[in-house]
Amino acid sequence: MHENRCIGIVGCGNMGFALAHRLSLYGFTVLMSSRCPDKHNDREFEIASTVECICRSPMIFVALHPEHYINSLISHLEHDPSLFEGKILIDLSNEPLDKSHLNDISNAERLQTAISNAFVVKAFNTISSFAMQSITAGESSNVFVASDHSIAKDKVIILAREMNFDAFNAGSIHVARHLETDTKSLFPQWRIPIIVTFVVLIIWLTYTLCMNYIRTRTTSWNQLFLHMVNEILCPSAITMLAIVFMPSNFACIFQLAYGTRDRRFSKWLDRWLLSRKQLGLLAFAIALGHCIIIIILVSPAYYSS
Ligand SMILES: NC(=O)c1ccc[n+]([C@@H]2O[C@H](COP(=O)([O-])OP(=O)(O)OC[C@H]3O[C@@H](n4cnc5c(N)ncnc54)[C@H](OP(=O)(O)O)[C@@H]3O)[C@@H](O)[C@H]2O)c1
Repeated sequence: MHENRCIGIVGCGNMGFALAHRLSLYGFTVLMSSRCPDKHNDREFEIASTVECICRSPMIFVALHPEHYINSLISHLEHDPSLFEGKILIDLSNEPLDKSHLNDISNAERLQTAISNAFVVKAFNTISSFAMQSITAGESSNVFVASDHSIAKDKVIILAREMNFDAFNAGSIHVARHLETDTKSLFPQWRIPIIVTFVVLIIWLTYTLCMNYIRTRTTSWNQLFLHMVNEILCPSAITMLAIVFMPSNFACIFQLAYGTRDRRFSKWLDRWLLSRKQLGLLAFAIALGHCIIIIILVSPAYYSS
């Protein structure tokens, strides 16, 4: 890294400037590029044309939206096919919101195909511009680096570490497909545990309605809500706890049946085992709700009302 600490950044947007601040904080010289360099009157960083930025920097961050790759980057190949020769292009992009016109190939793979003489590396796309700019941000500092060019990948890993990130080798450029979609999924590991919790609550709601309030109605109407919620939460918490502990027992049974610890569990058991933390936290939340309602129900103030 030390032979040339000039890093190029194509695109003067949120991520471009966040990167520039971070890089300059860790001692790098930053050369930014914009469609209109004169438009930005930022005196902190040098802003040049895209061609000049690419010529002067061995490593270039592409801080553009992927739909602008052709007009801002690839179009320069027409005038100078060797412009990107040996350059490391770090693709930061995530999957565009409107992907109706795109096939399954990732932005990084598309960029590598279009500029075949450059070394395209997918990295930093899981870091927000806020976390990029602030060294004290509580967000994850994991940078996953994927590329088909091992030397370029190693250089980007070293750069990420010098920028005080935890960098990991994520494999080939093919992995970019997962990295680009990962940031778009909201609470990816929580979806199934939340569905399971709703199913458990609905089952116990149906049971409670049938057993207590349709056949025999013993509770006064003004106390019906809390009583009913309590009767649902209590068995739901116990059921959830059973769901949390059950997969470990299944795992033991499978290991005994296989006669080895080294064979992988089937997919459904693997996912169930990996969801135990989320299921446990949801079980805790239900049990907490049950405890709070119990405290309200046994308080003299509730009955006197
Ligand atoms: N923001 C984040 O937190 C974040 C996090 C991870 C990854 N990313 C990725 O980083 C990339 C940039 O995101 P951003 O938030 O910095 O976007 P942005 O603020 O909208 O900036 C994008 C830059 O692209 C250039 N641009 C805009 N319209 C263009 C056009 N029609 N043709 C050519 N260039 C155009 C502009 O630079 P000039 O006007 O200077 O040319 C603009 O500043 C995206 O691919 C995004 O997925 C962003």
